[in-house]
Amino acid sequence: MRKPVIAGNWKLYKTTDEAVALINGLIPLVKKAKGVEIVVAPVFTVLGKVKSAISDSPIKLAAQNCFWEEEGAFTGEVAPKMLVDAGCSHVIIGHSERRQYFAETDGTVNRKIKAALKAGMTGIFCIGETLAERDAGKTWEVLDRQLTGGLAEIPAKSLEALIVAYEPVWAIGTGKTATDDQAQEAHAFIRGALAKLYSRQVAETTRILYGGSVKPENIKGLMAMADIDGALVGGASLKADSFAAIVNYQE
Ligand code: 13P
Repeated sequence: MRKPVIAGNWKLYKTTDEAVALINGLIPLVKKAKGVEIVVAPVFTVLGKVKSAISDSPIKLAAQNCFWEEEGAFTGEVAPKMLVDAGCSHVIIGHSERRQYFAETDGTVNRKIKAALKAGMTGIFCIGETLAERDAGKTWEVLDRQLTGGLAEIPAKSLEALIVAYEPVWAIGTGKTATDDQAQEAHAFIRGALAKLYSRQVAETTRILYGGSVKPENIKGLMAMADIDGALVGGASLKADSFAAIVNYQE
């Protein structure tokens, strides 16, 4: 009942020509994918061009960040309604790189989620512990704090438009994927936390994606886990063939 989602986070990569080449290479390779939602998240500057390229395909467009205000004197920011205007249905919020390098907190993440939902977007809400936190035995405490803070004052009804992405920071870009069991354990914890914050029903219907060194070689094992509903892919989403192989994991 939870439709799998495979999302590609292109991070700070791809100029216009490169982005258009990537998406045009990807479209024919994922044409036959059934029962899976495909999302790509390019940099802001190429959203329009990628949107034109995917207009006849089921691929959905995401931004990698948004601001919480609708408009105003906020130089350099982009509002959710402007992302909608550019063709985005989804937006990644609270990625660990934004928390690490751009001082995002559970509080700012919460404001961004609210703003994205208000604009009618689907939020991809990222959480995950660092290696130091895992080693200190604080994984559950960190995930609990990030979930509670990020979701503060967000009503159960809104969770329909929210996807949670569990991305252990130590697995991002390191080639060190969490094992299937480690990922499953964290996803089960997150689902349990959602049940406590909301209800069993909300927990059972919310999609939880895994992110961190997902590759064609490990996607099958991850997707076989009961609580893993998809993947947020970084490096392997930058090449059409590897991202397509992840999308087509059922083949
Ligand atoms: P990698 O797949 O490159 O480890 O990145 C994961 C990620 O941060 C996706 O948002």
